[in-house]
Amino acid sequence: MKPKIIPLRMMGDDRGSLVAVETHQDLPFELQRVYYIFGTKEGVERGFHAHKNLQQVAVAVRGSCTMVLDNGVEKVEVQLNNPTQGLYIGTMLWHFMKNFTEDCVLLVFADQHYIESDYIRNYSDFLELLSDTPKQ
Ligand code: TYD
Repeated sequence: MKPKIIPLRMMGDDRGSLVAVETHQDLPFELQRVYYIFGTKEGVERGFHAHKNLQQVAVAVRGSCTMVLDNGVEKVEVQLNNPTQGLYIGTMLWHFMKNFTEDCVLLVFADQHYIESDYIRNYSDFLELLSDTPKQ
């Protein structure tokens, strides 16, 4: 499994840096929601779910963390440590985050509002649903 990294447009000049993120231009979907995770306590791992329909792009705008992606067959670890790179997290991908630095701010763009019923929070349910999902 090759993680899909989305390069974000950096508009830096001698004053500093600026990144703009637009629906369809940078995000492969229409933006509906933004959330960010920060102040994560040392040693915390969070996530541990997949989504039936939600698509997301995660960017470490400050600091770093590791995103683990698992498609039910293989796992990859992606270091998020660059404010000009987004990681695309598609549907039916089990994922969790770890190794948060104290200063980490993880910004996430999502194509749906928060819908609890879209979450698969149990790994064996995830594997079962995957085996029911026709391969694309
Ligand atoms: P949670 O799903 O536990 O975060 P993660 O799985 O990424 O570690 O979310 C923590 C709480 O925040 C939970 O009560 C749901 C709520 N929440 C929202 O209300 N809206 C959101 O967009 C998100 C991501 C979470």
